[in-house]
Amino acid sequence: MTLEQARAALRSARRVAVLTGAGVSAESGIPTFRDAQTGHWSRFRPEDLASPEAYRRDPETVWQWYAGRYRDVSRAQPNEAHHLLARLERGKGEGFFLATQNVDGLHARAGSERLVELHGNLSTARCEACGTVAPLPDPEAFTPPPSCPVCGSRMRPNIVWFGEFLPELALEAAARAFEEAEVALIVGTSGQVYPAAGLALETRRAGGMVIEVNPDETELTPYMNCSVRDVASRGLAALMGEG
Ligand code: OAD
Ligand code: ZN
Repeated sequence: MTLEQARAALRSARRVAVLTGAGVSAESGIPTFRDAQTGHWSRFRPEDLASPEAYRRDPETVWQWYAGRYRDVSRAQPNEAHHLLARLERGKGEGFFLATQNVDGLHARAGSERLVELHGNLSTARCEACGTVAPLPDPEAFTPPPSCPVCGSRMRPNIVWFGEFLPELALEAAARAFEEAEVALIVGTSGQVYPAAGLALETRRAGGMVIEVNPDETELTPYMNCSVRDVASRGLAALMGEG
């Protein structure tokens, strides 16, 4: 399918579901998960920080790492790709759904509302005792670990770690949206990690059209009706008829 056809399909679709990954934030200067290991942290593998075992063993180190990432994303700004997706939502209204694997909060800051953050969020913490979720203080004023505003217990990063389940309601909502979508956009994700592959395939199986925006080929490319080989900002602008 040509770019022109993909653009026409996106324009006329009443139901659109979007999945984003680390690539959508690359133009905001946020390194992908694995690139993020610089300086002091290059001695650690992400798997050794982002897991329940790591947190049980050394909560202080794990919190230091997340506090640093929280500070970094707070200083970053949403880029044109985040803004274009927020604009697409305003155009489609209730027929729009955005699922992100990113924890940087940039979609929400760009104005996306019909949004689920499948892997959690760097700017909130969750109580280990009662489950309360609360925003972290300003990064400059934040010394981890935070305590629960309700029961005073220690809180953990509100992130889905390796070996943990995704939030069930968010995942169900995403699965439904991708199944019902006439067009699904898959932006800046390598598609190696569940549920990315699963969501794209839901749309395909139900007869919808699947379009990828990624400068490189991915695991999902063979299942796409159209692949736009460009960075997220330019690829989305081309698809939305502004390129
Ligand atoms: P990856 O780091 O696996 O993939 C990033 C993708 O973005 C690659 O396919 C790149 O080609 C693409 N990319 C790079 N720059 C881009 C740009 N400017 N515009 C568009 N695309 C670009 O990231 P994810 O697919 O998000 O999980 O990884 C999924 C999950 O794996 C992460 O959420 C994380 C990780 O393990 C958890 O933390 C639980
Ligand atoms: Zn609590």
